[in-house]
Formats: sequence, structure tokens, C-alpha cells
Amino acid sequence: MGSLTRAAEEDPAAAAEEEWSDEAVIYVNGVRRVLPDGLAHLTLLQYLRDIGLRGTKLGCGEGGCGACTVMVSCYDRITKKSLHLAINACLAPLYSVEGMHIITVEGIGDRQRGLHPVQECLAKAHGSQCGFCTPGFVMSMYALLRSSKQPPTEDQIEDCLAGNLCRCTGYRPIIDAFRVFAKTDNLAYTNSSSENANDQTICPSTGKPCSCRNETDINVNESSLSSSVERYSPYSYNEIDGSAYNERELIFPPELQLRKVMSLKLNGSNEIKWYRPLKLKQLLHLKSCYLDAKLIIGNSEVGVETKFKNAQYKVMISVTHIPELNTLKVKEDGIHIGSAVRLAQLQNFLKKVIAERDLPETKSCQAIVRQLKWFAGTQIRNVASVGGNICTASPISDLNPLWIAVGAKFQIIDVNSNVRTTLAKDFFLGYRKVDIKPEEILLSIILPWTRPFEYVKEFKQAHRREDDIALVNAGMRVYLQESEGNWIISDVSIVFGGVAAVPLSASRTENFLTGKKWDSGLLDDAFNLLKEDISLSENAPGGMIEFRRSLTLSFFFKFFLSVTHEMKVKGLLEDGLHADLSAVQPYSRPVTVGTQSYELVRQGTSVGQPMVHMSAMLQVTGEAEYTDDTPTPPNTLHAALVLSKKAHARILSIDDSLAKSSPGFAGLFLSKDIPGVNHTGPIIHDEEFFASDIVTCVGQIIGIVVADTHDNAKTAANKVHIEYCELPAILSIEEAVKNGSFHPNTKKCLVKGDVEQCFLSGACDRIVSGQVHVGGQEHFYMEPQCTLVWPVDSGNEIHMVSSTQAPQKHQKYVASVLGLPLSKVVCKTKRIGGGFGGKETRSAIFAAAASVPSFCLRRPVKLVLDRDIDMISTGQRHSFLGKYKVGFTNEGKILSLDLEIYNNGGHSLDLSLAVLERAMFHSENVYDIANIRINGQVCFTNFPSNTAFRGFGGPQGLLIAENWIHHIATELQRSPEEIKELNFHNDGVVLHYGQLLQNCTIGSVWDQLKASCNFVEARKAVNSFNSNNRWRKRGIAMIPTKFGISFTAKFMNQAGALVQVYTDGTVLVTHGGVEMGQGLHTKIAQVAASSFNIPLSSVFISETSTDKVPNASPTAASASSDLYGAAVLDACQQIKVRMEPIASKGTHNSFAELAQACYMERVDLSAHGFYATPNIGFDWMIGKGTPFNYFTYGAAFAEVEIDTLTGDFYTRTADIVMDLGFSINPAIDIGQIEGAFIQGLGWAAMEELKWGDDNHKWIRPGHLFTCGPGSYKIPSVNDIPLNFKVSLLKGVPNPKAIHSSKAVGEPPFFLGSAVLFAIKDAIFAARAEEGHLGWFPLDNPATPERIRMACVDSITKKFAGIDYRPKLSV
Ligand SMILES: Cc1cc2nc3c(=O)[nH]c(=O)nc-3n(C[C@H](O)[C@H](O)[C@H](O)COP(=O)(O)OP(=O)(O)OC[C@H]3O[C@@H](n4cnc5c(N)ncnc54)[C@H](O)[C@@H]3O)c2cc1C
Ligand code: FES
Ligand code: FES
Repeated sequence: MGSLTRAAEEDPAAAAEEEWSDEAVIYVNGVRRVLPDGLAHLTLLQYLRDIGLRGTKLGCGEGGCGACTVMVSCYDRITKKSLHLAINACLAPLYSVEGMHIITVEGIGDRQRGLHPVQECLAKAHGSQCGFCTPGFVMSMYALLRSSKQPPTEDQIEDCLAGNLCRCTGYRPIIDAFRVFAKTDNLAYTNSSSENANDQTICPSTGKPCSCRNETDINVNESSLSSSVERYSPYSYNEIDGSAYNERELIFPPELQLRKVMSLKLNGSNEIKWYRPLKLKQLLHLKSCYLDAKLIIGNSEVGVETKFKNAQYKVMISVTHIPELNTLKVKEDGIHIGSAVRLAQLQNFLKKVIAERDLPETKSCQAIVRQLKWFAGTQIRNVASVGGNICTASPISDLNPLWIAVGAKFQIIDVNSNVRTTLAKDFFLGYRKVDIKPEEILLSIILPWTRPFEYVKEFKQAHRREDDIALVNAGMRVYLQESEGNWIISDVSIVFGGVAAVPLSASRTENFLTGKKWDSGLLDDAFNLLKEDISLSENAPGGMIEFRRSLTLSFFFKFFLSVTHEMKVKGLLEDGLHADLSAVQPYSRPVTVGTQSYELVRQGTSVGQPMVHMSAMLQVTGEAEYTDDTPTPPNTLHAALVLSKKAHARILSIDDSLAKSSPGFAGLFLSKDIPGVNHTGPIIHDEEFFASDIVTCVGQIIGIVVADTHDNAKTAANKVHIEYCELPAILSIEEAVKNGSFHPNTKKCLVKGDVEQCFLSGACDRIVSGQVHVGGQEHFYMEPQCTLVWPVDSGNEIHMVSSTQAPQKHQKYVASVLGLPLSKVVCKTKRIGGGFGGKETRSAIFAAAASVPSFCLRRPVKLVLDRDIDMISTGQRHSFLGKYKVGFTNEGKILSLDLEIYNNGGHSLDLSLAVLERAMFHSENVYDIANIRINGQVCFTNFPSNTAFRGFGGPQGLLIAENWIHHIATELQRSPEEIKELNFHNDGVVLHYGQLLQNCTIGSVWDQLKASCNFVEARKAVNSFNSNNRWRKRGIAMIPTKFGISFTAKFMNQAGALVQVYTDGTVLVTHGGVEMGQGLHTKIAQVAASSFNIPLSSVFISETSTDKVPNASPTAASASSDLYGAAVLDACQQIKVRMEPIASKGTHNSFAELAQACYMERVDLSAHGFYATPNIGFDWMIGKGTPFNYFTYGAAFAEVEIDTLTGDFYTRTADIVMDLGFSINPAIDIGQIEGAFIQGLGWAAMEELKWGDDNHKWIRPGHLFTCGPGSYKIPSVNDIPLNFKVSLLKGVPNPKAIHSSKAVGEPPFFLGSAVLFAIKDAIFAARAEEGHLGWFPLDNPATPERIRMACVDSITKKFAGIDYRPKLSV
């Protein structure tokens, strides 16, 4: 502990009279820990992982994914209660949790002590796939339970998960898993058993007691019946001895409750000083000493600034413990809110005030509470403060427009304790500039009461409803006074965020409105003035000018309607607004309901059973190890990349002098340092590992820095100064086509029949043409790219563990860059936290980069990409441009299709040609067309190399196809579904690439879906809704899909496996496939278990390793279960044949005895199995062949509702039917379908990549704007369909794959586009209101911008023509 006197000598701030302490204590999972001084630069997450608690994951580092969620408990000395809060450990400064108890996923249960019911439920309900997000979900749920006095409602559960992202599961099983903790009615909630008195169980879908488990068709085995009971009963047990979970919850440590809270003064690296004063006087004194000190509360702004914007603050003052800043008081003039009050605290307090006081007084409180619902996620709201939001003065702050609109006042105190008050409207001076002098701080906010007839409303439109920052938001208030029977506007405030550097008051409009009568007559003039008030220049940051301006008018229109409606309800206004009421209905989301239907066809002990993912228990307890969790060998260096900042440029010079003197620096390696070959590529070697002379995209690797820590490596890498001479860059497909910029030898053509002749023959009654822009997509695997490389025998060999779908590719790239033979390089992968294609080839470049310093310095090197670096540099799903011309009869029969497609390959070819080819193969979807010509070519652009992504070009080809189908339907004024049915494939047709179609089940799939979704009734209901609602429209669509299974490169369709039987009867399987969440290891183990007729628990798969199974193809193309299942079966059969002579004696009682007996007889119990898919192959020279072993079919129905004024939408229903043959594991397969559908929904309707190109001049050329979860929005838990139904077609064995199953990983992805086409259907209805009945393009993703601008009305027409097509990076 330090004293003032001692501190005073060292530190001017120490002149305060109080004592400062440097003794920081926390508890972690019940264990006391003293935090040493010197760690002020660390986050809580870094600390936890450093002390070995690696269950808490780093997914983004910016509070946007929830993978790092932990629970902190602190003691409130006023209420004398402990508070339990879920927070993001990645943003919490370590010392900010001093005096608190941190509970991580390891603290609540594990396989030895027994799983906590939260963990147990999630595992049993198939709620984890790759498992990287899983600990975060567990902790969010756990914190909710710990902080709720009553069992939470289902709504609360869904809400509390909004700050946690999952890229694999589609969320449905997670919600279902946690539903058992919900109080669904007085009877049914449980923390011990899901069974109730009537022998019913808690329904996995509704959370209510019922017997719907019968929904699952069980036609074979009794034992399967238990699955749904077990899944939803949070019965927890110790995996080792089977005893029940009886851990008591960790209590709040008495020491922390009794301990005197001290003022803290601590330090960090780079001379950071960290203070935590306890008194205002102390704080003001500190501030007087350090005028540029950064005040910290939730660190949700400052944390992002320091991590991603290179901001550095030497003095940080945590003001969380200052009583005056934490005040929440109800007073005469309003509510006084201390600036350090946390948002969640404010939310709760205001709710209480609203409940206790007269409603007219609390209109502002209500608006703030409603706005806070959409403010970030729970974890952020639990720490982020009101003052932090105000003082950051972000132009898109959700609260600042409201503070201004409601007439809030800010109290500001200076270092001499003088307090001044300013109006919120005068506080924001410029971009992130506020009216606070260096010697001042924000003390509190006064939120005034509202008067009778004063109305306040908040608005926010974001890309994603939950946990997203606003595109435009607003706060509006009007005070009406009655005069001579009219309601006159006495005072009005209209303030927008997101349209200028500061919250912008529409002052001309306000002036105009003041004194006017409140009726619809004012709208036109108000709109015109608003248009003048809110002007955005063409290249304003954020883009979407037409949309954002339209929104400002839409919001005002909604405000007008909602006030009028409220007045009308009170009988104060007469005018009928019935037709417009749909504009003011608030969005409210009922809980999600999901049903799954499948048959169980059991084959042997395990195949066909819905077994739980073999790693599920490890994942829910945080015990599952990923690459970043691998303990680093002694002497490990950490790496950071030096990346190009130019899209196309010559490197003039590289200056490393500053980097060399950076702390911990150990080396910079450039192209000249590469020991082996610098050129690489999976097919064509057209890419340099380290750019030597010319860079061809932003994010291209120029070199790699190694240092003693990750942070030091990053700092040093930032100090490498590179001079460039810029060269012209190609930044879109259209530019590439115009300039003839293509990757060499990528022009491809497929032809069937004679397209020209058909068009000329007059057979086509009509011909339409159009262009489809298909947007790209970021993989957003939750585990960023990561590799750990180390030399063995002083560099004679190199070993690595990598997060990759293709260990063999890592082996190959590393061997090549180091000049080593493949036999001396080993790559191992235990599991990966999602890949989706993004870790197929691109990950190998990073392993190769890390291997260079490792080899040269003979030290282990670890490279983990930060999320932004990962997104900037690793490539994405290809964007495509499709140009079609299609001829058809008046009945809708398609006769001829002429298609040109281009994909955006980026700066190297990578897999782009194969992606293009698959798009060409899938360009007719399930439609039979006599004449087809498809030309395709891969564009060279100055972007990072685009790469494999679930579907591998298939979805892009399919999307283009569905676009021209919909075009035909519009042209013929028929429903798209009719056109589809008329043109479906039948068995026996020859496809446009020569393959004979066999066993086609699209007809059965479609019919089952049509019946299941009751399409005819659904259409009627939608039409009826639409005719009664002017500003909200519903739409429906049914989408079919056919997906070819096999790698289109024939040689890749081979697989090896190693099966080893041990003398205790257990079996170790190693195969070439990687477990990335898709349940591959579980399915393969099921195959082995059934083959040996042993329980699944006797089979183990440890890892994938290039020294066990050589020359494996990447785990991709959905075919891994087919390939590796068959290879494993081959090995098992070999062993069984060898065992047979002994087995036939019939003297053993178990497999273990048999194995032991075989061993004694010197029988080889290890076998290598192999499989090569027969009868496939394609010859591009003639454009004919059989590229696919078989096809997986599916169809989906979606119903959506859109808000035509804002572009907001939600999915009401998704109904999916798929033919998966006899599923090896229906639970895993359903998980794949749901996950793929939601990922497809993201691609179709939510996820937009924004690149610096001609359409986005506000972004630097070639740079990616959307490079983190803050700006790139994947679906969250609240984006899934309200009613989510999945069924597998029954009784359809597949003769072409193992155990009659079918591949599942990629085929359902495209079905997510049903949401896009349902949105389009809804937009049709909106446009029809304005008389626009013709075809219009709707590019994916159908973001609010695209929806709003397509719903043309008098507002949009003020800013754009009816053919306006929002800009898209393609
Ligand atoms: C994942 C994520 C989601 C988010 N979502 C939203 C959203 O939906 N809407 C939205 O508006 N914002 C959002 N934000 C922004 C941010 O969370 C808020 O601005 C938050 O309120 C900041 O509070 P804090 O306590 O964390 O600030 P801190 O980071 O601790 O501090 C922010 C700034 O305020 C200054 N400051 C704090 N208190 C005072 C004071 N008393 N006097 C003077 N200066 C002070 C600090 O010095 C610092 O410069 C999000 C951020 C993240 C990371
Ligand atoms: S890692 Fe903390 S929120 Fe993503
Ligand atoms: S299981 Fe959620 S991200 Fe993989």
C-alpha cells in the first residue's frame, strides 16, 4: 500500500490527502488473487487467459461477439446486495474489476465436478457445434439466472443472448436448451427436471409442458425415445463417476464484502498510470494534475479506441466508485442521473420511475427506456455509462439526440468544484468535440419531466435490430396546447443522429411547426423543410445518402402518426388514421418456436441415432482446446503482420528503424528472408507469400514482425514504415470487365442445345433480360485464424498446430516457403472454431508466414489474427455479376437461357476458378431448360483473394437462377412458385453439363413443403394482411435447391483413415477430415462404432494430423462424411476380416475380450482405410461429364414482414424440407440445416461488405470498412424466424453414399435466400400501393436500405427515382 507522502514525491497527483493503495484483489472462481502492480495495460480477458482460464475466448476484442463473456459479482454497499453482471472480458480493463468476483465458464462446472445445469442443457440440446461461442452463451445465461430473483421469462432469455454471436447453430438449439430455465407458466419451469406430473416434458419448442416429443418420428428403436427427454432435462452428472451435480453456486466472497474499498493507484506498461479515486475531491484533484487524463467507466469506447485506433492514454482514471457520479435521484425538476451511471442501471431505474409515477410526466423516461432496449447487448449495457456515451459524442449515439429533444441539461464540474449547467442542445460542438474544458468533467444529467400533452418518441434504424449502432436515429418531442378547439404546437424538437458530425436539430422545420395546428396539413411542408434541414453530401461518411435522408422523413411521419394516434385514443383528435396505423405499431417479438421432424433409421449400435456432438461436454465447460489455447512452448515469440495499405502500388522503401527499437522486438522478416520459394497458390502459383516489389491489394502480407508479446509485435509492426508509389487499381467486377482484367485461362463455357437458334426461332413468346449483383460475405468464423509453429531438432523438422480445414495444405505451404520436404513438416488440428471455407486455403498463407521467423530464429512462433486483420486480409465469399437473357412461353415454360457470369476473384486466383465452375454447374437450379449457354470468367481485382465459402459458388449461381425465375413470373403476372413447378427437373434428364439426373427427389421435397407450410392459405393470409396495412407488408416465397456433391476436381475425391483397435476394446480413429463444428468426428465415430458393433463411447477421435493420414483433401465440399466415413468403414472391415477367425470361435464376451484375444494371436489391429468416389469426372475441353456423385435436394418457405418506411424486417416463418437419405445423425444434420439457413439468411438479407470502390468513395480505395462485428452484422439470436421448422424427407435411402446418407453441410445454405424472395414479395405489395407493378431488381443483401428504397413512395421519390438501385460492392 502506498501513502500520500511517498506517492507525492513521485507523482504530482499525490497531493490529495487520502491514501492510495496499490493492493488490488479479485476473486476468480472462488479463488483469491492479488493482482500485481504493472498490469494496467491488460484486459480482464488477457489476464484470465494468462492464468490458464482459456475457456473464455477472444472472438473480436471489441465487445461485439460475446465469446469473452464472464460474470462479475460486486457488492453494493448501499443496498447491501451482491450484483451479478455478464460483461465482455475483452473490454474490461483488468483493474476495473478490483474488489469483484469473476466467474468464468470453468467456475461453474466441468466434467470432473459435474456440469452445471446450464452447461448440461446446452450440450444435450445440440447447442454447440464448433463450440467457440459456447462458453460465452453459457455465461450470459448463467449471469441471467444468478441475477434474476424469479426464473426469467423466455423473452428475457432471448434478450440476454443478443450480445452473443454464434455462426454455426442458427441459435434455435441454444434457445431451446435454455428454455427449461424459463418460467413459462406457473407450473412449468425447472431447475432439476423437465418432467411434470402428467408425464409430459417441457416442450423443446414452446417451453411448456406437452408431449410433442412425439413430433419426432421414431420408427425403429425404443432407446431413441429418451432423446428428447434427456435433451431438455437439466440433469447434471459427473462424467467420470456418474454422481449427480451437487456443486453449490459460488458465493460472493465474504472478504470482498467486508473489505475496505481503497483508492487505487497502479501502473501498466508504457508508463500507464491507473487511478481509481473514491471521492469526487480526489478525482478533481487528479484531473487538475493530469488535464489530459482519460476518464474510464465501461471502457466500451476507450477500449475500442486503444485496441483498434492506436489511441494511447498515459493516465486513466476509473470513476466508477465516485458516489456523486453514480447518483440516481428523483427531484422536482426531473431525474438527476450521475454521469457514471451504467445504462442497465438507468434502464431499471427509469422502469421503476415509470411504474410509480403519472404517465404524462414520464414520456421522456419511456422513450429512453425504449431506446436502451436497442442499445448494444446486455454485456455492454451492464458496464457502459451514460456519461461515457455523452462525452464520446459519437455522431450515431443513440441517446444524444434524445437528450437534446427532451431538453436535458448537463451539469459540468471543474477542478475547483464549480458547477455549471448547460443545455444538451448546446453541448455538442463538432465531431467528437464537446463543451467540456480539460479542467472539467461531466457531473450529471438532468432529465426533465414531461407535461400533459407533451409527447416524446425515439427512433433508430440500424443494419441489425439487436446490438447494432444506428444508421440514423432520432429523438422527437412536441408539446401541444389546445386553443379554440385546435391543438397547436407550442414547442417542438426534432433531432437526428447519424446525419452529421453532431446530433442535428432540424431547426427550420422546428421553427415552421411552432405555432401550427397539429394536423396532417403540416406534413408536406414539414417534409420539404426537413429535406433542406438534413442535407448529406454525396460522399458523406457512411454513404447511403438517399436512404438516410428518406429515413429522416419516415421518422417524422411516424412521429406525427404516433402522436396523432395517442391523441385519438384519448378522444382528443378526430381525424381517422386507420389506414396509416401500421406505421406506428411498435415492433415486438414473440418467442421463437422451433420444430424438427425426422425419422430414425438405426444401423448398428450408433449409425442413425441423434447422438450429441462428441465434444459437446468439453465445449460447454470451456475445456475444449482450440489452437490459441494450446500451451505455448518456452521461448515462444508472438507475431504480427506487416500488411499493404494500398490496393495497387510499387513498394519504394521499407523503413524498420522505429520497429527495431520497439519494446520486445525480435525480428522483421520480408520476402528476402524467405528460405524457400516465395510463390504459392492452391492451383496456380500466382501469389507471393510476402510481397516483394508490388502490392496488389490492401491487406496483402509484406512481412512479419516477431516480439516477446502479441501487443509488442503489433506495436512494432505498426512502426514499419513503407513508402509506396500508387498504381491504378481495379475495384469492381464491372471495372474488371470493362478493362478486360481477368485471371488468365479462366474463360469457361457450358452449352446445351442451341440458345441462339431458340431465340431466333420464335418459339419463345417472351424474352427478358437483366443483371443480378450478388454480394459477397465474410466467413466470420468465431475463432480467428491462428497458428503455432515450432522447430524440432533445431529446425530439421517443423511442426505446427493450426486452425485450418486443410492441415495438408499448411504442411505443403510451410514446406514450400521453408524449402523443406513434406516429410519433415507436420500439421495437427484438433478442432477449429468454425471455418466455412475461410480456413481451406487462406489459412495456410498465415501458417507459412509464421513459419519463416520460427525457422530462421529456431523459436516457436504464434500468430493469431485480430478480427479486423482477419477480415481485411483473408478473402471472402465471391461477389458475382450475372447477366441473363431468358426466353419462355406464355404458359411459363422456359425454353432458352443465355447467361454470362463473372466472379470477383481478387488479386490471386486461389480457388476462384473452381468457385466459378460450381456456380456454372448450379445455374439452372432445379429447372429443366432445353437450351442453355453459360459463359463465365474470373475477374482480377485489387482486393484480397476471395475464396471458398459454404456452397463454393453454388449459392451464387442458384441466386442468379431464382432471379430470372422471378423475372419471368413478374412478366407473366404469375406466382414464381407456379413457374418453378412448371419447369422442375424429372429423373432421366441430361443436365447442361452432360450428367444424367437420377434419383431426383425435388418433386417430393417440394410437395411436402407446400403441404407443411400450407402455401395456399399462407398466400391468402398475406394478401389479407397487406390490404389492411399500408406501411407494413408481408411476403412469402418458396425456394428449391439442388446441390451437387463431390469436389469438382476429381483427384480430390479421395480419403484416407487410420483405425487402431486397442486391447481394452477401445478404438482410435484418425482420418483426414477436420472437426470444425459440423459433427464430422461424431458421425465418423458412429460409423466405426456400428461397424465394430460397440458403443459410441468406445470410439475416440483425437485430432487430424498429416503424419497419421497423408495427402488429405481439405474438409470441404460437404463430402467429408461420405469420403471419410467410407475410408473408416474400409479400415474397420479390414480389421474385422483379420479378427474373424478368432471371433468365429465365439469364446469372447465383449469386444474388449476379442481385441485382447486377437492381440495374443498376433493379429494386426491397425488398418489404413481408403476410399475414392467412383464414376465421377468432368472434361472441360468438351464441357461434359459427371462432376457429381449425387445431389442433395431441399426447399424452404419463408414469410417475412417489412416496415416499408424504414426497411426493417423480420422473418415470421421458415419451413424447410430436405432429403438427406438415411441420416447418420439426424440431430447433427438438423443442426447443419438450421445453421446453414441462418448463415444463408445473413448473406441474403443482412451481411453487407463495404469496400472502398467507386460506389463507396468515403472509404479509402481498396479498404474494407466492415471489418468487425461493430460494422458487419451477422444474424443474432433475434434474427431467426419466429417459427422455425425443419423436416427431413422420409424413406429415401441414397444409394450413392455411406449408410444411404446424404451430404448436408452446404446444400441448405442457399435456402436462406427464401427470406430475400419473401422480402421481395412484400416489396411488390408495397410498390403496388403506388401503382408500380413491374419487375425491379433487389440485390442481396436485402438490407433496410434496399428494402426501404425499393418501397417507393412519396418520401423516397424526394431523394431518388423509382429505378434507384442502392450501391453494392461487387
Ligand atoms: C459492442 C458495442 C456496442 C455499442 N452499441 C452502442 C449503441 O447501440 N448505441 C450507442 O449509442 N453506443 C453504442 N456503443 C458505444 C458505447 O458503448 C457507448 O458510447 C457507452 O455509453 C460509452 O460508455 P463507457 O462508460 O463505456 O465509456 P468509456 O469508454 O469508459 O468512456 C468514453 C469517453 O467518455 C469520457 N467520459 C466518461 N465519463 C466522463 C465524464 N464524467 N466526464 C467527462 N468525460 C467522460 C471518457 O474519458 C472517454 O473519452 C457501443 C459500443 C460497443 C463496444
Ligand atoms: S471477444 Fe469480447 S465481445 Fe468478442
Ligand atoms: S457453435 Fe457457435 S460459433 Fe460455432
